Amino acid sequence: MINFNEQNNVFTLETKNTTYAIGLLENSLLVHLYWGKKLNNAINENWNNDFTWRSHSPFDYGKYSTNALPLEFSAYGGGDSRTASFSALYNDGSRVSKYYYKGYEIIKGKPEITGLPSTYAESGDKVETLVINLYDELKKVNVYLNYSVFEEYDVITRNIKVVNGGETLKLHTVLSAMTDFFGCDDMDIIHLDGAWARERYVTRQRIVPGNQNIKSQIGISSSYHNPFIAICDKNTTENTGDAYGFNLVYSGNFTAGAERNPYGTIRTYIGINPNEFEWVLETNQSFETPEAILVYSDKGLSGMSRIFHKIIRTRLCRGKFRDIERYALINNWEATYFNFNEDKIVKIAQKAKQIGVDTMVLDDGWFGRRTDDTRGLGDFVEMPDRLPNGLSGLAKRINDLGMHFGLWFEPEMVNPDSELFEKHPDWIIHTNGRTPSKIRHQYTLDLSRKDVCDYIIDCVGGILKRANIEYVKWDMNRQMSEVGSAMLPAERQGEVMHRYMLGLYYVFETLTKEFPNVLFEACASGGARYDGGILHYMPQVWTSDDTDAVERIKIQYGTSFVYPYSTMGAHVSACPNHQNGRTTPFEMRCNVAICGQFGFELDLNKCTDEELETAKKAVQNYRRLGEIFHKGDLYRLRSPFESLMAVNEFISEDKNTVLVCIYPHSTVTAGYDEYIKLSGLDENALYELNGKSYGGDYLMNKGIHIINDYEYKTKILELKKQ
Ligand code: DGJ
Repeated sequence: MINFNEQNNVFTLETKNTTYAIGLLENSLLVHLYWGKKLNNAINENWNNDFTWRSHSPFDYGKYSTNALPLEFSAYGGGDSRTASFSALYNDGSRVSKYYYKGYEIIKGKPEITGLPSTYAESGDKVETLVINLYDELKKVNVYLNYSVFEEYDVITRNIKVVNGGETLKLHTVLSAMTDFFGCDDMDIIHLDGAWARERYVTRQRIVPGNQNIKSQIGISSSYHNPFIAICDKNTTENTGDAYGFNLVYSGNFTAGAERNPYGTIRTYIGINPNEFEWVLETNQSFETPEAILVYSDKGLSGMSRIFHKIIRTRLCRGKFRDIERYALINNWEATYFNFNEDKIVKIAQKAKQIGVDTMVLDDGWFGRRTDDTRGLGDFVEMPDRLPNGLSGLAKRINDLGMHFGLWFEPEMVNPDSELFEKHPDWIIHTNGRTPSKIRHQYTLDLSRKDVCDYIIDCVGGILKRANIEYVKWDMNRQMSEVGSAMLPAERQGEVMHRYMLGLYYVFETLTKEFPNVLFEACASGGARYDGGILHYMPQVWTSDDTDAVERIKIQYGTSFVYPYSTMGAHVSACPNHQNGRTTPFEMRCNVAICGQFGFELDLNKCTDEELETAKKAVQNYRRLGEIFHKGDLYRLRSPFESLMAVNEFISEDKNTVLVCIYPHSTVTAGYDEYIKLSGLDENALYELNGKSYGGDYLMNKGIHIINDYEYKTKILELKKQ
């Protein structure tokens, strides 16, 4: 799987269908030689000839120009004018680093990354790790480039470890992965952008000369950009062509991009955003970066997504709920907002139980002085007016209905109007002499501090122990600003945002280990922290506060570029929709939400009998088909961003059932005939649809006939292999 060929100095990393090759130049630099479809033969022995002709600006790396080479690692200071993957400030004031190859090791399996979430191997998995050691002789710093190869998954993960054997230094940039595509200047970059209530819209653009960068600098991975980029050939489609994906397993500030240089090379990179980062590394200390997941597919963007889905669902997500059918829940937020009491919640649950819902989740407003969002955050003690019998009393009444009880928390935050803040004003993220901004009337607790993290663990853990709570919605509703910590000295203030992440992961690790039977769902004003870091601890995320079915088609479509539907919290809500005022048919809302982790976000007591019947059928269908949506192979057939009708196809793991979700989301011409070509079928098999038999080849080459008559008339077609 991983091999070093001493004849031609090439490292080859092979998965079932791909090859990734790194050349070691005689000058000690590591160059990216190949990544793509699996090669049958070794790389040509004279591969370095591709690079020698450009020797006009060799710097001190011999006959090669560092400015044009396709590098695997590039430290600032050696003449490369592109984005550096490493830079540091040394105590003599110098910022120049020079790394030379020192050796390598191939390890069976995959070591953990200390304190950070990452993919893992299970026994029986074919996983190996290549560790390449680079060394800066002058500064006595070792850098280890780690590449783990998941053979069966077609995935390579990368991260970097820095070990300082010299004097104290300040790390400025340590990106997780950098891959240069040599001689490929005409490619596209794809990224997922948005804002609150329109997360992860798909943006695709040509990579033009210069740096095309996306980032977060606000302390959460954010709804503005997701920590993901793909680059692809300009002809790559959803189901054909080369696609390369990069996803950072991290929930904080990141940078990612593609930089096209004047010599026909595109540099891709991803890692912690260096702009808000500084890390003091003392002698003999080490620093490890988050992990980047790298995926190549020759089957287009849907092919790339399927690879991401499998690795994220089965080797990044963990715990009891990873593989099992989860809850069909009802959440009271849009049903009541802050206006509820115990009886009201029980009444909502009773109705939900009648249509087959199994979990009642109590959202914001159950504690302290929390009558609205201006107060109370931090004081997680039941409000007696609303919950006279406490959480345990309410949980018991819900359990007596035969349902699970779930609860909302926002433990990383505090309102100034709270007992917690009165007691610990220094526990918030803030910087000396500046008034901390309030966002949604709240401050961020300083999770870079161990005492604050331990307080959160005790507070949440204590509540989970004293009531039968089987599901937690872990919310987080503001970005960071005026960042600083009362606990850190001046020279370490640049560490706060990364230390916050380490603290957050410590809290998650502790609580999820202590409460393995609790299903955790993450939320950050909807989907503002939807990333692999979160998913390592919490297997599902509230995809967006926008529950409008039309918007959700787009949001879920974009999210599916990286994250499987098994991770997407998706609920049916009331109309007109509370976020955008749109009215859609109840059936459409069900047909859109059913692909994710399904539930309701409304008071079913206010629904008509017809709506209740539709809701009941949806719950039944969810139980019957959920596994296919969550674990099946996704083929995106039509994009809501490019077509009036979005179409997704899911093929079950056993390949016997095919679900085709058809969503006319915008005005279409009445009575318009269309054929939708399916993908991924067995061309020699017959498939049954509505009592008729069709050949797999016919369905893929001609398609399913659709009469596109009404806007919003969605359908989920079910085909069975005969
Ligand atoms: C923001 C979340 O996204 C909502 O679902 C809801 O839980 C509110 N917070 C509660 O304040």
